[in-house]
Amino acid sequence: MSAIAFDQVSLRFPGAARPAVNSCTFQVEAGELVVILGPSGCGKTTLLKMVNRLYEPTQGSIFLSGSNIQKLKAFKLRRQIGYVIQQSGLFPHMTVAENVAVVPKLLDWSRSKTQMRVDELLQLVALPPQEYRDRYPSQLSGGQQQRVGVARALAGDPQVILMDEPFGAIDAITRTALQNEILRLQSQLQKTILFVSHDVDEALRLADRILIMQAGQVVQFDTPFNLLTQPDSDFIRNLLGTDDIVRQLSLLRVGNAMSDLPEAFYLDNQPQLSAQASLREALSLILKSGADQVAVIERDRPVGVVSLARIQAAVRR
Ligand SMILES: Nc1ncnc2c1ncn2[C@@H]1O[C@H](COP(=O)(O)OP(=O)(O)O)[C@@H](O)[C@H]1O
Ligand SMILES: [Mg+2]
Repeated sequence: MSAIAFDQVSLRFPGAARPAVNSCTFQVEAGELVVILGPSGCGKTTLLKMVNRLYEPTQGSIFLSGSNIQKLKAFKLRRQIGYVIQQSGLFPHMTVAENVAVVPKLLDWSRSKTQMRVDELLQLVALPPQEYRDRYPSQLSGGQQQRVGVARALAGDPQVILMDEPFGAIDAITRTALQNEILRLQSQLQKTILFVSHDVDEALRLADRILIMQAGQVVQFDTPFNLLTQPDSDFIRNLLGTDDIVRQLSLLRVGNAMSDLPEAFYLDNQPQLSAQASLREALSLILKSGADQVAVIERDRPVGVVSLARIQAAVRR
């Protein structure tokens, strides 16, 4: 059963000439990080807001772990779904701790349980609680505010998190740091994440799979590696800018581009990389070590291999 499933979902706003989201069908598996990518106005935000019922589809159905979300009360549904938006949406008159505690409060957690959870979450997003707990949002940088926004979204331990261009207003360097943070959190917590972006580099770096939208429709839904090597259309080729190969190799994670482990695989003297490392690092390791492949390691165990031939396939398209 998929974590999230869209079945022929459309939304036409009143008076609009055409649907903002047009007959979208796709499934997201539990623990996947899916980036919804497409130009401004293509329907990304509209699609996302239907998942937590801020908007209702005019046609079709959406399922969360197999249940039609129409059958759930909207306020209950929203407690099961974390939501992070661009301007963090923090309450300015509440401290960091109070902002993070919004959902635990709704869930009627005890004071001590809430406090422990808040500190744990601030720790998790790399904001030492002693230092940040009692600050107000205006006393934080933009990047720190987004970290608090992420902590708040995680507070009720939701299985699904929706993120709408959460780092869109953040400078490039902080943005990369926050993206790495999301990858770290994701490998630690295994949430299902729908992440809206119009930034191709961000999508290639973060996504397990990228759902590409054009004028309200899903035009291709695949791994970054497959999208780059087998784009379905010129629109996608242009969107991804498939000729800057060095850049792409440095954005693609080996965990997303690896092949299955061969039978009877022995780590022995093989060069190794973590699943989060880039294909560019894999290439340089292969060239340096003289091996013809690197083993990809996740939680101390080999999970796949990336061969020179595989990297060449990405380069020679
Ligand atoms: N509340 C709304 N009422 C009417 N039209 C809307 C509303 N929200 C978005 N739209 C329209 O729907 C289309 C998709 O918008 P949106 O989902 O915000 O795109 P994106 O997030 O990809 O930039 C746009 O044409 C936009 O003008
Ligand atoms: Mg948007």
